[in-house]
Amino acid sequence: RPEDLPQTVEDYRRAAGAALPPATAAWLNGGAGDEITLRRNEAAFDALPLMPRVLRDGGSGDTSLTLLGTRLDHPILVAPMAWQRLLHPDAERALAAGATAQGARMVLSAQATTPLAEARGAGALCDWFQLYWLGREGTLALARRAADAGYAALMLTVDAPVAGQRPREMRAGFALPPDLSPVNLAGLPRPAAGSFEEVMAAAPRWADLEWLCAAAPLPVLAKGILHPGDAARAVAAGAAGVVVSNHGGRVLDGLPASVEALPAVASALAGRAPVLVDGGIRRGTDVLRALALGADAVMVGRPAAWALAVAGALGVAHVLRLLRDELRIAMAIAGCRSPRDIGPSLIFRQNPPEGC
Ligand code: FNR
Repeated sequence: RPEDLPQTVEDYRRAAGAALPPATAAWLNGGAGDEITLRRNEAAFDALPLMPRVLRDGGSGDTSLTLLGTRLDHPILVAPMAWQRLLHPDAERALAAGATAQGARMVLSAQATTPLAEARGAGALCDWFQLYWLGREGTLALARRAADAGYAALMLTVDAPVAGQRPREMRAGFALPPDLSPVNLAGLPRPAAGSFEEVMAAAPRWADLEWLCAAAPLPVLAKGILHPGDAARAVAAGAAGVVVSNHGGRVLDGLPASVEALPAVASALAGRAPVLVDGGIRRGTDVLRALALGADAVMVGRPAAWALAVAGALGVAHVLRLLRDELRIAMAIAGCRSPRDIGPSLIFRQNPPEGC
C-alpha cells in the first residue's frame, strides 16, 4: 500500500531498525562515547532555520555541479561505509547501482566487502575510493589497485588513527562475522600494528599526506577535517578537496557538528578546492543548509545504509530520489535557481547585517 512506503529518510531509519538484527542496528546507528556528537550532527541542522526570498525568478531548481571535473546532476554523494554485506546480500553492488540510478556519486569504503572492480562495474558513479593509511608502500599499492579498477579519485580518511569506542555496539555484542573481510586489502604490505603504540606509530602524518598526493595516480581528498587550519594545510599538501566530517560521530565524542565546523573551513579555502561535508544530513533542506554555509557537495552515510537494509538497490535509489526532490523543491521555494544562488543569507539570523 502506498501509505506504507517510506516517504522520508526518517521512515527508512525506522524501517531499518525493525528489519536489522539488533547488534547490526547498534553497529550502524551507534556513535562514540555518549553519542553527543552523533546527536549534535542532526540537531545542528535542525537549529538552522532557512530564510527564503520570495517572488524571484526561481527557474526550475537546477541542482547540477561540476566536482573534480565531472558533471553531476546534484550535490548528494554516498559516503564510504564499511561492511555493507552486513546490511544486504548485494552489499556495495546494490549501493553502487542504486546511487548511480539517481545520479549520486558513491565513495567505496576501504573496508568494502566487494572487490573494487565489481563495485565499479555495478554503477558508473561508484568511482571514488576511500583509503585508510596502511604505510606508504601499502597505501600506494592500494591506490594503484583503485586506479587500475577505473576509480577517478581517492579519499584518505584522516580522523581515525585508532578505532573509536562505540558503547552501544559493545553492549549489543556486535562482532564481525568471520566470513567478512576487507577483500580489497588482501595481500597488501602493512606495518606491524598490534599494540596501541604500534598503531599510533603507524598513523599518517602531514608529510605522508603530501607524499601520497604527489605519488598517487589519482587526486586525493582528505576526509575528516574540522579545523580550518588543517583544511588549508591539506590543500597546501596537495589535497584535491576536503571533507568536513566527524565520521558520523563514530570516532571521538564531544566534537562540533560537522555543519558547525563547515563555515570556517569554507572560508579558509575560499574556493581553492572543493569542500564536502557529511554527518547528520537527513533531508533536502539539510543539503540546502550545508550548501548555504559553504559546501560544494554533501555525503550521506546512514540514510543510504538504512535504505539498503530495507530494500536493497531499489531502496538506495528511492532514498536518494527523496533527498534530491526535497532539495530541488526547497531551492525553488527559497528562491534559488542553482547552487550559485545559495549563500549564507539563506540561513536565518536574528540580526541580519544591513542591506542584504
Ligand atoms: C562509516 N564511515 C566510514 N568512513 C570512512 O572513511 N570509512 C569507512 O569505512 C566508514 N565506515 C562507516 C560505517 C558505518 C556503518 C557508518 C555509519 C559510517 C563514516 C561515513 O563515511 C560518514 O562520514 C558518516 O556516515 C556521515 O554521517 P551520517 O550521514 O551517517 O550521519
